[in-house]
Amino acid sequence: MTTTAETSMTGAEIVELCRKHTFFEWSAQSAVDPIPMARAKGVYFWTPEGKRFIDFNSQLMCVNIGHGDERVIRAIAKQASTLAYANPFMATEARARLGAKLAEIAPGDIDVFFFTNGGADANENAIKVARAYTGRHKILARYRSYHGGTAGAIALTGDPRRWAVEPGMPGVIHVLDPYHGMARGWDTADEALAMLEEIIQLEGAHTIAAFFLETVTGTNGILVPPDGYLQGVRDLCTKHGILMVCDEVMSGFGRTGEWFAVNHWNVVPDIITMAKGLTSAYIPLGAVGMRQPIADHFRDKVFYGGLTYNSHPLGCATALATLGVLEEDDLINNAKRMGRVMTTLLEELAATHPVVGAHRNIGLFGIVELTKDPKTKEPLAPFGGTSEPMKQLGRIFREEGLYTFTRWHNFFTNPPLSINEAELREGFGIIDRALTQLEQI
Ligand SMILES: Cc1ncc(COP(=O)(O)O)c(C=O)c1O
Repeated sequence: MTTTAETSMTGAEIVELCRKHTFFEWSAQSAVDPIPMARAKGVYFWTPEGKRFIDFNSQLMCVNIGHGDERVIRAIAKQASTLAYANPFMATEARARLGAKLAEIAPGDIDVFFFTNGGADANENAIKVARAYTGRHKILARYRSYHGGTAGAIALTGDPRRWAVEPGMPGVIHVLDPYHGMARGWDTADEALAMLEEIIQLEGAHTIAAFFLETVTGTNGILVPPDGYLQGVRDLCTKHGILMVCDEVMSGFGRTGEWFAVNHWNVVPDIITMAKGLTSAYIPLGAVGMRQPIADHFRDKVFYGGLTYNSHPLGCATALATLGVLEEDDLINNAKRMGRVMTTLLEELAATHPVVGAHRNIGLFGIVELTKDPKTKEPLAPFGGTSEPMKQLGRIFREEGLYTFTRWHNFFTNPPLSINEAELREGFGIIDRALTQLEQI
């Protein structure tokens, strides 16, 4: 088999060696069947043999600016050649500029940032900040959520990825979301808030440090909260002295058509956690952003948290360049514009294919839920599991050159924010053909 210039190994050789000597996450190792990836540009990537895929999931909902942006690559090279690493007690220009830039774009008085390696450890450190600041220990989180794979973050996580590591960190209380699946649908904001306040009362407000929530839930269903819900959560948290912690690891940096998803509802959380789009994943970096009064608490009290790669200069320089690209190319407004096109395309899919049971998107953050039966809305795969039709759909997408996440009975539509209308229509054309094939099986 011949390969293009980017790799000296064939796709099959790469896959074989990766499977032999490396572990793949969240999987039984014999079940993984990775796509060998050699290079990527814009909204596309290629295998060593030159098969092209349109990336409809921005890899892991993280390559927000698109692949291979030369401006970011130059910034990484420049930082690497001048100062590749400085320990966390040093002050660097990249760290200084990034802190100031994030203070400018983050909501309200979220002006101070602690830099981490990624999203999970941003949430770990947010737990520490919240407990130290409030002097309380319990944390509320929602069932339909993912907050990361490390000990504290997986304890906050409500979805089945938590089950294998239980019992986890004590003090985490899970609450129901306003969404209950295709058949039962949505609570109103008032119903969801009444349930939340009842739990706060039953747990004892004075024992609760924080409520962690994904502003718009990601892998658990692109759940866009009903209007009034986030404002209500803000009010309840304020009333009871509980910190509102918005996890914007996936929903931040333009994904929803705003810098941060909270901006859609003009809500300022006490703490915001971020990663992924912060650097568009060119280099790992996460952050915990906190409101000024919380940061002030640590002026004369020790912050008990640390990481060798805290404020890594390469990460900070990459983030600065990425934020520059988001601004220079007007990508957040593009996400808003293309999000409207996506809504129309999703509606067209739903009108043509009875297998589409529900669909949602906000900006370029989209999902399709598939059903066995349009009347009962029974999902096409069981909760937390898969099914032959879902596996079949994954195979068709792969054959047709569309990369996206198929999970349970869902698939996602989360392309890079740099996508244009023709590319978006190209991806939806593949989806349309794939659903037609699925319905014929
Ligand atoms: C909402 C959310 N929070 C936290 C994380 C964990 O981030 P990381 O994988 O960078 O640790 C993720 C990852 O998918 C996420 O989607």
